[in-house]
Amino acid sequence: MAFVTPPRRALRDIFPYQPGKSIASVQRELGLRSVIKLASNENPLGPSPKAMAEYRRAMMQNALYPEGASPELRKALAAFHKVRPESVIVGNGSDEIIRLLCEAFVDPEDEVVVSQHGFIRFKQQASMMGARVIEVPMTDWTHDLELMAKATSPRTKLVFVANPNNPTGTYNTQDEIEGLLAAAPKDAIVVLDEAYVQFARSIAGYPRSLPDLARRHGNLVVMRTFSKAYGLAGLRVGYAVADPELVGWLDRIRMPFNVNLPAQRACVEALKDEAFVRRTVAVNEAQRALVAASLGDLGFGVGDSATNFVFARSPIPGRELFKALLRLGVIIRPLDEYGLPQHVRVSIGTPAQNKTLLKAMRKALPQCQAVGA
Ligand SMILES: Cc1ncc(COP(=O)(O)O)c(C=O)c1O
Repeated sequence: MAFVTPPRRALRDIFPYQPGKSIASVQRELGLRSVIKLASNENPLGPSPKAMAEYRRAMMQNALYPEGASPELRKALAAFHKVRPESVIVGNGSDEIIRLLCEAFVDPEDEVVVSQHGFIRFKQQASMMGARVIEVPMTDWTHDLELMAKATSPRTKLVFVANPNNPTGTYNTQDEIEGLLAAAPKDAIVVLDEAYVQFARSIAGYPRSLPDLARRHGNLVVMRTFSKAYGLAGLRVGYAVADPELVGWLDRIRMPFNVNLPAQRACVEALKDEAFVRRTVAVNEAQRALVAASLGDLGFGVGDSATNFVFARSPIPGRELFKALLRLGVIIRPLDEYGLPQHVRVSIGTPAQNKTLLKAMRKALPQCQAVGA
C-alpha cells in the first residue's frame, strides 16, 4: 500500500537546500576525470596541516564517543575570543546552529526577519518551523539594516544577518549593526553570521563583534565556522557566541554528540594555526582581484567582495553558463534559488584553478552566445 501520511503542515512547501555540485557527481555524470569545484566557498589551499595532524592522531580514538558539549574546543574558542566558555556553543557546522536557533525560539506564526538575497538557509529553516518569514529588500546588494529594523514587530523572534553576505559578497559596518541592535526589539534575537569574517575583518568599519558587541548585547548571537578560512568544511564544525542563558537553550536541544571526536580535536589545533589563515586570506585577496578583473573583461558585472568568492551578473543566464562550464569540468554556482537567474557566484581558487576557470569561461561564453543562450 502507498505511503499516505502527510508531513507537518510547515514542511509541505519546503524547498530543500541545494548544495554546490560535488566533484564526484560531475565526474560520474559527465565521465570527466579532471574537475574543479569553485561552488561552495571552500578553502582551495586545503585544510590547515596542523589541524590534520591532530585529526589523524584523534582518529585512533574513534571507538569512543566524543564529549557531547565539545568542552575542550569550547574552552579554546572562549580563550580565543575572550569570552566565557558558557557563552560558546559548538555545532555540526554553523548550519546546525541556524537550526537550533529556529527550533529553540520560533513557534508557528512567529516572525523571522531576513534579507531578500541573504543566505538562504535562514529562510528555509525558519519556514520549517512554520514562521512568517519577512524578506526585506537590499540596497546596492547590501542588507538594508534600517529597513530590517523597521520590519521587526513584537512577534519577531529572530533577525538574521550574514555579514559578509553569501551570495552577494557585501558587508555591513559596525555603525549599521549597532543601529540595528539599537532599533530592534530587545526580545528579538539578532543573529550575525560571520562565516567569512577572516576575509573581511581588515576592512575599515567592519564590525568588532567579538568580544565587544557580544558582551554589550544580550540578544546578539555571533556565528562563525571552520568551513571557510580554516579549510575544514568536511569536518562540519561551526559555533556561536551569545549570552550563556541563550546558549543553554541551544545546548539542551542539540544532538547528544553533535560534533565528532576528531573534528573537535582538529579544530582546537586549527585555531592556533594563525599563519595558515593569514596565508589563505593573502592568496584569496590577490586571486580575487585577478578573477574579478578578468571576469569584468569578459563582460560580467562584478561586485566588490569582502569574501572568498565573487558575485557577478553574467552576460548569459547563470544556469546556461553553469551547464556549459560543467561540461568543461568547472563547477560554479548559478543563483536561481536566490531569485537571481542572471547572476553567478564563483569561489576563488588557487592560481592554477583560476586559470582553468578563466580559460573555460573564454571557451564557454562564445559557445553559449552563438546558440543564443
Ligand atoms: C553565510 C553562511 N553561513 C553559514 C554557512 C554554513 O557553513 P557551515 O559549513 O559552518 O555549516 C555558509 C556556507 O556556505 C555560509 O555561506
